[in-house]
Amino acid sequence: MATGCSKKDYEEQVAATRDARMAWWREARFGMFVHYGLYSQVGRMEWLQTMENIPIAEYEKLAGTFAPKPGAPREWAALAKKAGMKYMVMTTRHHEGFSLWDSKANPYNSMNFGPKRDIVREFVDACREFDLGIGFYSSLMDWHHPDGWTCAFDTEARRRFTQYIRALNTELLTQYGKIDILWYDVALPMESWEGWDSLELNQAMRALQSHILINDRSKLPEDFGTPEEHIAATDRDWEACMTFNGISWGYVDSEQAAPYAYNAQRILKMLQNCASGGGNLLLNIGPTPDGSVPADAVMPLTQVGAWLAENGPAVYGRQSKSTGWPVAFGGNGVTTATCSGPNVYLWNMIWPESGEMGLGGYLNTPKSVRLLRDGTPVEFEHVGHRILLKGLQRTAPDPHAGVTVIELCFDESPRYLFGSYYPQLHGGFDRAGEGKI
Ligand code: GLC
Repeated sequence: MATGCSKKDYEEQVAATRDARMAWWREARFGMFVHYGLYSQVGRMEWLQTMENIPIAEYEKLAGTFAPKPGAPREWAALAKKAGMKYMVMTTRHHEGFSLWDSKANPYNSMNFGPKRDIVREFVDACREFDLGIGFYSSLMDWHHPDGWTCAFDTEARRRFTQYIRALNTELLTQYGKIDILWYDVALPMESWEGWDSLELNQAMRALQSHILINDRSKLPEDFGTPEEHIAATDRDWEACMTFNGISWGYVDSEQAAPYAYNAQRILKMLQNCASGGGNLLLNIGPTPDGSVPADAVMPLTQVGAWLAENGPAVYGRQSKSTGWPVAFGGNGVTTATCSGPNVYLWNMIWPESGEMGLGGYLNTPKSVRLLRDGTPVEFEHVGHRILLKGLQRTAPDPHAGVTVIELCFDESPRYLFGSYYPQLHGGFDRAGEGKI
């Protein structure tokens, strides 16, 4: 990518390569977010320095006691792999301003203090070992750098600070080989892309790694949106980032957090919402002070991984909204659907004890219906626009989370009309008629 482009030219160039750059990410659907830093030692969330008015000199003491155990990033990556996640994003430097790598631009880092190790290097090596995409979270806001606040109203401070941010990100994108995602966060105290020099910054970053994906938090829209703590489909690429417990990104006591933490079923429900809306799920863990995976995350993620090993086609590589079929529909009141090419996947969180259930709105007939996990055929009939599934076993067949996926395979694209049925019409046939929709 050329540098020095106008905003319009830059955005056109970035858009022109977007489909090719994002192909892997659109397939991946599920990633692990890791919030780890000095704050992890305290266990009162990653914003504690400013939420609790802790002076810099006092907070800095945490750098001396920071002691990630050997192999911690490998433990995160091993769990991500086991969970069926395809990429990871780690906080290389959070708002506290402490760099977890061998940084020349920022001496307040994990080589000079604490473990005297390059944790980013360990993270990158672990991602490569487990064949996971590599994402770097990089805070724009900084509570440690002397210009981190004055940059908002002092021209010289702003110049120094934006250069500092650029130097940090340049190190990250030049010292570790191929990096897949640059994940900015919190563009404060400046409030515009002009204030952050984001246009120049991101052109420079793309010149270093032309395939890189950049999120939307440097005040430019870039490659994908980042709904936080909620899942909301949009027309552009998006990735919902979620804490594991609705309380904190950074570590909080696992035992106390456990009742608030997601179980496998809730994670699958989130994955279904993301996949059906054409988005990704970036699910966070906040490792313990020594970098161990928090206890409450292990079992749910392991169960989700076992489920994905059998039901992956219902999640990975979902079509986005823009590709046509109304993927958010296709189930019934208790069954939701995802869709891929000619196949529809029905997610049954509530399994019908009666052994049968109907699906309305299907205009064409599937060529076969089966359980996704093991291919067991499901008996069905298609009358009018209703598919009736019959002879289902009485208890949910899925042994991992009780979420059983039924696959409808069509010869051509499924044709479907949502909510069209009025019992009074045409003796009970729906108003979709037989025509194409
Ligand atoms: C928020 C918080 C931050 C967290 C981030 C994750 O913007 O400032 O602590 O890292 O969300 O998306």
